[in-house]
Amino acid sequence: MTRLPHPIPYQGSKRKLAPVIDRYLPESMETFYEPFAGSAAMTIYAAYHQRAKQFILADSLQSMVDLLRSIVENPEWTATRYREIWEGQHKDSHGFFNEVRNRYNEERDPVDLLYLICRCVKNAVRFNGGGRFTQSVDKRRPGMHPHKMQAAVEGVSSILRGRTEFRVGDWQETSADARPEDFVYMDPPYLGTSIGRDKRYHQQLVQEELISGLENLRQRNVPFALSYDGMTGGREYGPPLPVSLGLTRLSIHAGTSSQSTLSGRHEQTVESLYVTPGLAESVSGVVNPKVEQISLAL
Ligand SMILES: C[S@@+](CC[C@H](N)C(=O)[O-])C[C@H]1O[C@@H](n2cnc3c(N)ncnc32)[C@H](O)[C@@H]1O
Repeated sequence: MTRLPHPIPYQGSKRKLAPVIDRYLPESMETFYEPFAGSAAMTIYAAYHQRAKQFILADSLQSMVDLLRSIVENPEWTATRYREIWEGQHKDSHGFFNEVRNRYNEERDPVDLLYLICRCVKNAVRFNGGGRFTQSVDKRRPGMHPHKMQAAVEGVSSILRGRTEFRVGDWQETSADARPEDFVYMDPPYLGTSIGRDKRYHQQLVQEELISGLENLRQRNVPFALSYDGMTGGREYGPPLPVSLGLTRLSIHAGTSSQSTLSGRHEQTVESLYVTPGLAESVSGVVNPKVEQISLAL
């Protein structure tokens, strides 16, 4: 398999699932929207494979969008700044990480955020209710080497520069102008009804808002795919979406959960992908997508 550039090693990224999700995307897309971008794994995959003409990367976390923009539009500066920060850590990496974390929490510098993501425990980003980065340093690993970072940053910039727009805000605002010839891929935080507040994200999502936003996209005939709830070791995250939305629900076996590995358990994760009518039908092997759940082995 080709190695795609991935400068942001984000736990929970859709990097591994991207080729599977891609099977359900329309053949031709004008603009590909990713309004819950995080590390933008799906956009990187789609751009690399020339699946759409233009891209909109959006997130409600300002510094994440600043980081994506900096990677795409200022790759040399971003890689150099990362190298400077990374090289500063050698004497006292623990103390240094805490210094960068304090600085990020005051100033929200996007490359500080990149360093924190690379250096924190299992790349498992954590925010508190006030939006401050709270995860600790991973004492065993130094974080992505600057050479590797430079190659990844340049790789992403080369496929996205000149055809990507960056937006900060709630997903409903940032995808408000999507049209039927476009496509919206959504990977919101888990709704967390059974697991409490999802500490991985600075902001939580309310199911009613998600549903009314999806209804709005349906009324506008905008095709979309939504990675939504999931199940790890029998525990379900998030209630199912209403049938009235007319979506097809696919189950994707995503392998061992890194979340549960962190807590010493080895459990399988099954993720749901909801797609608008017409998308699953075109994939060979799917017989009756309206009523079936399809399991895909990776
Ligand atoms: C599950 S992560 C996305 C991960 C991404 N698919 C990847 O491959 O890295 C969810 C993202 O949604 C963002 N977010 C949370 N609430 C949001 C909202 N209401 N509107 C837009 N983005 C939101 C978070 O900041 C986080 O980056």
